[in-house]
Amino acid sequence: MNEPLLEVKDINVEYRLREKVVKAVRGINLRINKKEIVGIVGESGCGKSTLAMTFLKLVDSPGKITSGQIIYHGKTDIDVLKLKPSGLRKYRWKEVSMIFQGSMNALNPVTRIEEQIMDTMLEHGYDQETALKRVDELLRVAGLNPSVKNSFPHELSGGMKQRVNIAISLACEPSLVIADEATTALDVVVQRQIMARLLKLRDELGISLVFITHDISLVANIADRVYVMYAGKVVENAPVEELFYNPKHPYTIALLNSIPSIQKDKKIKGIPGTPPDLSKPIKGCPFAPRCNKAFDKCHEVEPDLISIGQDHEVSCHLYG
Ligand SMILES: Nc1ncnc2c1ncn2[C@@H]1O[C@H](COP(=O)(O)OP(=O)(O)OP(=O)(O)O)[C@@H](O)[C@H]1O
Ligand SMILES: [Mg+2]
Repeated sequence: MNEPLLEVKDINVEYRLREKVVKAVRGINLRINKKEIVGIVGESGCGKSTLAMTFLKLVDSPGKITSGQIIYHGKTDIDVLKLKPSGLRKYRWKEVSMIFQGSMNALNPVTRIEEQIMDTMLEHGYDQETALKRVDELLRVAGLNPSVKNSFPHELSGGMKQRVNIAISLACEPSLVIADEATTALDVVVQRQIMARLLKLRDELGISLVFITHDISLVANIADRVYVMYAGKVVENAPVEELFYNPKHPYTIALLNSIPSIQKDKKIKGIPGTPPDLSKPIKGCPFAPRCNKAFDKCHEVEPDLISIGQDHEVSCHLYG
């Protein structure tokens, strides 16, 4: 369980626009182990999708990965950011695949589901016969009746379309699937069903999963480890129970306090203010202007991510 599958080392990403440079990811280190489910959480705009794109070397102009390294430990070790187009074709979808944010509405409206799933396999070297045979199995694994293959996307519900995307993400037998806000547009019941299905995939197929969401409560029941992002950085990470029962960063605590509860005496507290503009220089801790525990140093010096006990890291001047 503790064997690394993907190691992300000090990754920085910028979007270079005409009038400004947005520092979307600022020095992130992260590790995904084999058969592990990792949650990445944080408010909108904190850089979650941009980070995930780097795992597949998918950041494209105006975005640029300015530094860092990503090592994938497959049959051999792969230095992902150094891959050339031919190497990338073998890596993407066959080693690491992604369910993109908003992909539910990105299925081709005029093509039947069967063809869409097959296309992914044919593009990655599967022959027609094998691809055709795999469609039913993939739909079943994603929790759909194989007859769905004859449908067009408009004939399916949102939840079914998202299951088709899960099937597509699994088509080339990857070891790691990244689900970026895969359940955000769905109702709570369907959301839970999709999460349960993804969880089963780890057990049945032995894959690793990265689950990206702005809703911290969603990863509570499925992730092994959670990374909390704020303003392009990881501000806290720990095994899931530790993070939920012993959160340290005031931002993590604020996210947890903003989860609705059925307990009568628990009030939902929102997080006042807004995240910083990532195109402006950040002085001190990026969360300081919104933090009720901030003191002078917080406004002056950006804290490092430090270890505060077994397997628990936080970047906050209250500790260390
Ligand atoms: N193609 C782009 N061009 C310019 N800026 C971008 C681009 N994509 C993202 N950004 C900026 O980079 C920052 C991080 O965006 P990103 O989409 O990675 O955040 P996110 O955490 O995934 O947000 P959300 O929860 O809304 O999906 C934001 O400030 C965003 O405006
Ligand atoms: Mg996103």
